[in-house]
Amino acid sequence: MKESGNHGRGTTIRPVKSLPSSPPVRAPRGKQANSNLLRGRFKNPRLPEVEAFSASLPFDRRLYRHDIQGSVAHARMLASVGLLTPDEANEIELGLKEIEREIGSGRFRFHLSDEDIHLAIERRLTEKIGAAGAKLHTARSRNDQVALDLRLYLREEIGALLDLIQALVQSLAAVAADHVETVMPGYTHLQRAQPLSLAHHLLAYIDMLERDRERFEQALARTDVMPLGAGAVAATTLRIDRRSVAQALGFRQIASNSLDAVGDRDFALDFLSAAAILAIHLSRMAEEIILWATAEFGFIELPDEFSTGSSMMPQKKNPDLLELVRGKSGRVTGNLVSLLMVLKALPLGYNSDLQEDKERVFDTLDTLKPLLNLMAQLWPRLTFNPAAMSAAAGGFALATDLAEYLVARGVPFRTAHEAIGRLIGDLTAAGRSLPDVELGELQELSTAFQADVLKILNPAHSLNARKVFGGPAPQTVRRRLRELGRKGVS
Ligand code: ARG
Repeated sequence: MKESGNHGRGTTIRPVKSLPSSPPVRAPRGKQANSNLLRGRFKNPRLPEVEAFSASLPFDRRLYRHDIQGSVAHARMLASVGLLTPDEANEIELGLKEIEREIGSGRFRFHLSDEDIHLAIERRLTEKIGAAGAKLHTARSRNDQVALDLRLYLREEIGALLDLIQALVQSLAAVAADHVETVMPGYTHLQRAQPLSLAHHLLAYIDMLERDRERFEQALARTDVMPLGAGAVAATTLRIDRRSVAQALGFRQIASNSLDAVGDRDFALDFLSAAAILAIHLSRMAEEIILWATAEFGFIELPDEFSTGSSMMPQKKNPDLLELVRGKSGRVTGNLVSLLMVLKALPLGYNSDLQEDKERVFDTLDTLKPLLNLMAQLWPRLTFNPAAMSAAAGGFALATDLAEYLVARGVPFRTAHEAIGRLIGDLTAAGRSLPDVELGELQELSTAFQADVLKILNPAHSLNARKVFGGPAPQTVRRRLRELGRKGVS
């Protein structure tokens, strides 16, 4: 392999935060550390600015474990089909394991001229073991290699995300179990509508998160496809064994078209879209907590550990954390849109545009993981004010109960709705509310009203009466909580 020489310019890579810190690495470099793995046909080295602009190494370093995992499986397969000797495969495997330790401990010297993590590892391997290292890339291209690495990485990370979602669900379910009878208003148009319970409200979040979980599981299934063997675009003339690689790496499927395998990032889109929907869900949750913590609602008190003061106003207790949760949904959604735009109208096969995929995926994970964790910790630390919640659920929020009382006694719903509407208008004009109404007044509206109507005029009764499947009655909610427990969800 020809060396194009050292262009003598230092370029610095800052360590990635998820890796053990290693000092910034400069390159002017000695002879072995070079960008020459690919430059057989070139006379001149790349411009340093071109090198710096094109490199994915500063961010794809975090794929190093997965890159090595894939290379080990590839080398073993090459040996099994006779393209490597068993000794060569062993040397490669030992060399890769050493490199893994070097990177893990921060001793590895990254050079920007290596372009990406794939070439950095291959360069180092060849430095270490010579000829055998130069055989590792047999029947492989970085095009199928990078697709493999990202899939391996994402498979692991989606697993971690699913655990974090589960932890949040468990935290919500635990709070819900304590508040099955804590009445609060359900809102429509952000106006008090009908009574429900805090537990029922929390179970709504749980249903949303359960759907998120399903979406991530679907994304996981589409990620669990093995692309290696696709080569650059048209597979290989060599007799490789893709099945054994898939088996060694625990993939359930093998990509069935080499052209699609190298250009497909749908799995990343699936992940980013599930992530965006989850982030939007969390933004809605954050917004409700923010609202509940206002003096206007007064439903909750935020824990000090999660609140911020104001630089000017000494009385302030700000929900900054929740505002950031809300705000970060924009960022996570942006990552989805960003990759969609990268893929728009992209010709099939590998194009370097695809290098833009990783930062979107990494940023989404780095954003969502702490966010899920913080929300799971926040819920059990909120102090609820059941008196304020119950008071807000009384009054006119009981109007539908009155209308349905009449319906149960044969009055057409529209007639009942109209009659109660008139009553509400009169009470409002007189500065009164529903629980103050007297039996006589009700009986003037309709002869169907009996003395038993007075006992339905409180939020707890209203809650208890809503027993239908999916409703907020305590017994219904307890059943749902038990069901979630049985499914192992909470
Ligand atoms: N660094 C590239 C990426 O992140 C992988 C190399 C792809 N192949 C190529 N010929 N540039 O997608």
